[in-house]
Amino acid sequence: MKRLTEFDELADPSFSSAVIAWQRAHGRHALPWQNTRDAYRVWLSEIMLQQTQVAAVLGYYARFLERFPTVHALAAAPIEDVMAHWSGLGYYTRARNLHACARQVVDQYDGVFPPDPALLAELPGIGRSTAAAIAAFSGGVRAAILDGNVKRVFARVFGIDSYPGEKRTEDALWRRAQALLPEGEGIESYTQGLMDLGATLCTRASPACERCPLRERCVAFATGRTAELPVRKPKKATPEKRAVMLAVIDGGEVLLQQRPASGIWGGLCSLPEVDGHAPMDEAAPQADAVAASAKAFGEVEEAEALLPLVHVFTHYKLHITPYRIALSARAGLPDGHLWWKLAEIDAAPLPAPVKKLLAELAAPKLL
Ligand code: ADE
Repeated sequence: MKRLTEFDELADPSFSSAVIAWQRAHGRHALPWQNTRDAYRVWLSEIMLQQTQVAAVLGYYARFLERFPTVHALAAAPIEDVMAHWSGLGYYTRARNLHACARQVVDQYDGVFPPDPALLAELPGIGRSTAAAIAAFSGGVRAAILDGNVKRVFARVFGIDSYPGEKRTEDALWRRAQALLPEGEGIESYTQGLMDLGATLCTRASPACERCPLRERCVAFATGRTAELPVRKPKKATPEKRAVMLAVIDGGEVLLQQRPASGIWGGLCSLPEVDGHAPMDEAAPQADAVAASAKAFGEVEEAEALLPLVHVFTHYKLHITPYRIALSARAGLPDGHLWWKLAEIDAAPLPAPVKKLLAELAAPKLL
């Protein structure tokens, strides 16, 4: 008996026929880049549609084509003119690549886009999926697309429960995309159908499963997991840092230090720190080292460790270990430092956790 290869196992002609039939009956047919085999127009639309929705692209596409009707016109234009016609569409690297690509097509291919997706993918700004879309729409070439929308459709229909941005999963999705291509005619409807499904029915937040031609074969639908699939990007663990802060108190005043204008808490004041915001895996300074560094501010009478607190930033978690330092005599005030009355701490330009810490120190003890 013939052994089945992975490709045979993934292939399923009923998948592409369902997509093609649905596209022909319910898909989009009147978009301005459809019903043409002009590779320049198809290429321009595919670049504009990367990371941008159809509605946002329509006006730009029309104005762009009016100003640059051919690849020769685009290649001959100054980059400033191209940027001006892209202005507002976002992701401006696309516009620079577009211009470079037009020049390359003119120089290298005499103004004719190559039909082979592998050659298209060597041009600036054209990745593997965009190359396949251009080749399919402009030349009827049988090539697989796999953009974000298609990844979502596949992840749901086939119940793929690993993150599609991960290399192994993405490679497997490409093999699946290749195996599912229609055998005979219909690559244009199939390619457009996958895009239309992803953009109009199999949306990220509210899929319209009741209208989906793939519902009967959809693992996510059958198992109630459309909200969980595709698997989201795993969150990186938040880095944790430590700050040893000195609350140097003397005569009802606390010593504050101006923070540098840039960086965390830029422009605010804070408490002096023993070694900045250090990584957690570095040992914290011992109490005697803390007391020694407080000597810069005067004669240390007492150094008392206070309760630690944690402050969460968007990019890291800061563990604050505060020390209360009592002075018996002040030294000269170092640059960028000032004394502030504890009774008026509410008015100080301090970050929230530091203000809270000092407000507690200023409050009269209840016990
Ligand atoms: N997104 C990417 N390519 C598209 C196309 N040809 N039609 C509609 N949306 C798209």
